[in-house]
Amino acid sequence: MNPATSVQIALGERSYPIHIGTGLLSDPALLEAALPRGPLLVVSNQTVAPLYLPRLRAAFGGRRLAECVLPDGERYKTLATLGLVYDALAGARVNRDGAVLALGGGVVGDIAGFAAATWQRGVAVAQLPTTLLAQVDSSVGGKTAVNHPGGKNLIGAFHQPSIVVADLETLDTLPARELRAGLAEVIKYGLIVDLEFLGWLERELPRLLARDREALAWAIERSCVNKARLVALDERESGPRALLNLGHTFGHAIETAAGHGEWLHGEAVAMGMVMAAETSARLGWLAAADVARVREIITRAGLPVAAPRIGVARARELMALDKKVQGGRVRLVLLKALGDAEVTGDYDPAALEAVLAAEVG
Ligand code: NAD
Ligand code: GLY
Repeated sequence: MNPATSVQIALGERSYPIHIGTGLLSDPALLEAALPRGPLLVVSNQTVAPLYLPRLRAAFGGRRLAECVLPDGERYKTLATLGLVYDALAGARVNRDGAVLALGGGVVGDIAGFAAATWQRGVAVAQLPTTLLAQVDSSVGGKTAVNHPGGKNLIGAFHQPSIVVADLETLDTLPARELRAGLAEVIKYGLIVDLEFLGWLERELPRLLARDREALAWAIERSCVNKARLVALDERESGPRALLNLGHTFGHAIETAAGHGEWLHGEAVAMGMVMAAETSARLGWLAAADVARVREIITRAGLPVAAPRIGVARARELMALDKKVQGGRVRLVLLKALGDAEVTGDYDPAALEAVLAAEVG
């Protein structure tokens, strides 16, 4: 079986392909070609493993796959859970000629990726994303992490995978709420760098919500192409890669204040993108009609456009933990126009205060 599409992440000797297609988890050739010959550990969770681990196992035929099945949920994205993966790596005797296969959504991908980044100072990882969010964003680009009680993703490393395999069949079993959460990150690409894609999404949203395979494949490919470009320009996020964080500074504050797992990451990002658009409008960068367009596509995707009332002080406190803070100043991804974002700390703080008061106060 051949992949329908491949997108290449161009990072010199750390370059790798993203394969997007139907039935790819049943195709061992793709993975075998990209993985070392030593012991393999599949990291998954209690929801995804029963659904997709058997077909991966069947695809690998005689080759032994050790497994580590984690509890499901953002609240388990912790150092304690990471310890379970290290125990399994030790048990399976995975060393530098072995590899980790991360089979699941962004939570599994981030934990397994961080385990691979740190085990024996780094072993190979294959990302096998099974949520839309993971297929368009978290499996690509090498960010790995676990949460700290003080905030999301505070403990982590950059560690690029050797291969990403996005099997569209896995999206058939994804709960509708999770599909919508993934659409938030898809819409993000349109808002930050790809106005034409935003127009396509506005037209084709009903097909995506109905899980039309062709529409999903195109949305995933276009998202990955956009992400690939930003990651190739700026692997370690010292510049343009930070555009990918549109809505995330607000969103992480909402996720943490609400309690990890209450708001899905994509839902919080969707709300955060509304707040970024509102801030951009207060700065005079974005027209009211553009903000309305942002609110409309997010609403049509079934995502939230009203935030929990976490209070301005709490929001400020949590936003101050953002990784983009420089010299005590919260830098934000704001929109100069739709399809044209900028990362900046150079804005009138009164605009941010007004948005926080209106949205979370
Ligand atoms: P998730 O991993 O929690 O998956 C969502 C839910 O869907 C879980 O209950 C999971 O078990 C279930 N699931 C997964 N695949 C399924 C399938 N095919 N069928 C049925 N159920 C399935 O959440 P997510 O939205 O995939 O990822 C969110 C995480 O990703 C957050 O922790 C976020 O911080 C992280 N993230 C990381 C990056 C990055 O660059 N590393 C980027 C964006 C988000
Ligand atoms: N999801 C943000 C990034 O990968 O940079």
